[in-house]
Amino acid sequence: ALVSPALDDLAGRSVVVSAGGTREPIDPVRFLGNRSSGRQGVDLALAAARRGATVTLVAANVDDGLVPDHPAIAVRRVETTLELRDAVRDAGAAADVVVMAAAVADFRPATTTTHKIKKTSSGPAPIELETNPDILAELAADRLRGGQVVVGFAAETGDATGDVLAHGREKARRKGADLLAVNEVGADRGFGDVPNEVTILDADGSVVGRGSGTKSQVADAVWDAVAARLRAATT
Ligand code: CTP
Ligand code: CA
Repeated sequence: ALVSPALDDLAGRSVVVSAGGTREPIDPVRFLGNRSSGRQGVDLALAAARRGATVTLVAANVDDGLVPDHPAIAVRRVETTLELRDAVRDAGAAADVVVMAAAVADFRPATTTTHKIKKTSSGPAPIELETNPDILAELAADRLRGGQVVVGFAAETGDATGDVLAHGREKARRKGADLLAVNEVGADRGFGDVPNEVTILDADGSVVGRGSGTKSQVADAVWDAVAARLRAATT
């Protein structure tokens, strides 16, 4: 349904949105990364600003052309997962809402060389990885500020062990975030400009909202669910 959201239901609220995809350096010229453009996070930031919030956008490797220039949006650029974590927690300490829309690298190279790795006749050496912190789970566990609403995003496909929603429910319970927006991805869903479909779950895995359409419409569905929680907490 195309109900236009209240213009000011986030007025006076401070929100942090992470966007893009983290990059983990292997050597001075190479990294481990992912294909996230940052569009969903940017649209979340713009939608929040439109609804009255003061926004910090923590942008991980988002193209310059995509980063919004808006008086209510402060942008902090980061590259790696550890930088993203620091920036999100720093801005999150005073925020009413933190939304983790960034695609965070699950692993990073255990060491980064200061010189470029050279091609040798003996073939490549394996790259040892270590696990990155789970920023969303940490935010949910630590609660940087009382009453803060912590939101995650999950792109899922169905597989032999369960459908999209089953995986989403399991993730919602595991992460402990207040809200998890679960997005079905596949050959023709979730990437690029094709319409998105999200189901919004609470920490128990119950469905509390749905959104579909453009990333901007999905963003408004997420803020609808967030605004409902903020209202519930203050009444
Ligand atoms: N996330 C995070 N820190 C990580 C990994 C993920 O904060 N190290 C956040 C993402 O920003 C997103 C949510 O957790 O909001 C879900 O990410 P996802 O990659 O789907 O979850 P994982 O727990 O990494 O599970 P999977 O094995 O499916 O990748
Ligand atoms: Ca992951």
